[in-house]
Amino acid sequence: MEAGHLRIVRTVSQLREQISKYRAARETLALVPTMGFLHEGHLSLMRQGRASHDRVCATLFVNPRQFGPSEDLKTYPRDEAADIAKLRAGGVDLLFAPSVTEMYPAGAATTVSVSGLTDCLCGVTRPGFFDGMATVVTKLLLQALPDAAIFGEKDYQQLLVIKRFAKDLDIPIEILGGPTVREADGVALSSRNAYLDAEERARAPELFAALKAAAASIAARAQSPDAAIKAARQRIETAGFGPIDYLDHRDAETLASAEATDRPSRLLAAAWLGKTRLIDNVVVGDDYAPTKRPLG
Ligand code: PAF
Repeated sequence: MEAGHLRIVRTVSQLREQISKYRAARETLALVPTMGFLHEGHLSLMRQGRASHDRVCATLFVNPRQFGPSEDLKTYPRDEAADIAKLRAGGVDLLFAPSVTEMYPAGAATTVSVSGLTDCLCGVTRPGFFDGMATVVTKLLLQALPDAAIFGEKDYQQLLVIKRFAKDLDIPIEILGGPTVREADGVALSSRNAYLDAEERARAPELFAALKAAAASIAARAQSPDAAIKAARQRIETAGFGPIDYLDHRDAETLASAEATDRPSRLLAAAWLGKTRLIDNVVVGDDYAPTKRPLG
């Protein structure tokens, strides 16, 4: 995207006023919600939005409702000036960066809660996270009413939950996923990687490496899923990760334990490296199945 003119708005009414101008000009709009401290993963979502829409609006809001009492709300990395520079350089049209009181005025008493999909994985180890996330994303979608909203696949369970409530609540917005962007050594980009010290950062690639090896092994039927998961757990524990919140083989749509091999599935993991909780996931199937690679 070309560097262009970034408009910054901080209230819902300013947001709606600006978007109504796009709509009057019959322009389409993609929304990319973020909590800031932007990295190439976020910027790739902005480019994805731009590729299929006339306008791109980013949001920057560190949502207190999706952090548990013992989580990292206070220390969550923030750098609004750097974020604005990146959005400007990336040609994003509009930034909505509201305050906490703008998003949750006194008296706000509604929570969006999704059952089923949130009963496992991060839903178990981060109680309240999905309710807080679903509530703020519902509000952002209804405030902006874009044609599409784009979320990273690194937070795979989050993406499924958003697709679920958007469908259930008849929110007329296409929910799109964007591929995980990785460092050259495989580490998935995440704002929380900023917490890692040099030694932890050197160990961090083992999470993706272990998931990738296990996915290849399951896809090639070289090992049972249980054995492949056990080996992956051992590998990341040896690399210094722990505790492991989960490392599971799940159905890619329902997140139920993957049993049938004819359905798309993924390996998903959340594990601590020192004081940092890292999550990642990989597809099980074509990408990592040596037997399915073309010969020659
Ligand atoms: O993935 C995130 O950064 C957040 O959960 C989101 C979707 C912006 C909602 O606060």
